[in-house]
Amino acid sequence: MTASDEVRLRPGTPHDAEAIALLIERENRPRVGDRERIARRLEALPSVVAVEGEELAAFIHCRRMAPDIVELSNMVVAAHLRRRGVGRAMVAMLEAALAEHGFRAAVFVNSRLHLGTTDERATTARAFWLARGYTIVFATAGSAMFAKVLTEG
Ligand SMILES: CC(C)(COP(=O)(O)OP(=O)(O)OC[C@H]1O[C@@H](n2cnc3c(N)ncnc32)[C@H](O)[C@@H]1OP(=O)(O)O)[C@@H](O)C(=O)NCCC(=O)NCCS
Repeated sequence: MTASDEVRLRPGTPHDAEAIALLIERENRPRVGDRERIARRLEALPSVVAVEGEELAAFIHCRRMAPDIVELSNMVVAAHLRRRGVGRAMVAMLEAALAEHGFRAAVFVNSRLHLGTTDERATTARAFWLARGYTIVFATAGSAMFAKVLTEG
């Protein structure tokens, strides 16, 4: 992303829960966005959203797995904005905020078996996360667990 792009990143707040749920439902059919769960995650821990004009166009949020380990619980970039560096910029901003909160590592599972996911989508996501420095630490035929150290020590 460049400064001339009309996409702005900012921390998420519980007020973004409805727009995030609508984005999930639009981009990830037939999944339904659980507004209360999303709001809880935005309230509890750092998150990042991308806003295009007035529209929320991307998000990433997470949940605590251990005092120093966070799970990146969901991320979506609107289809028309993909491959423009929005995802990369959001992850960089989130990782910095998580490290400031004392998290030493981030993990998540990418699965081809989730409702609404295709093999192509899972392959794209895996390429994205490998390029962000995440490592596959365990895999089944359908799912892969990724991990990355955020701060040493
Ligand atoms: C995965 C996703 C979040 C990536 O967001 P994005 O904004 O398109 O990603 P970026 O433009 O920042 O891509 C950064 C890098 O990731 C890799 N990458 C991203 N999309 C890729 C693709 N389709 N094929 C191969 N590599 C890809 C590349 O290394 C890319 O850098 P480059 O463009 O300089 O080559 C987006 O595709 C998405 O929302 N997918 C649907 C939901 C999803 O799968 N979420 C993740 C669940 S684990």
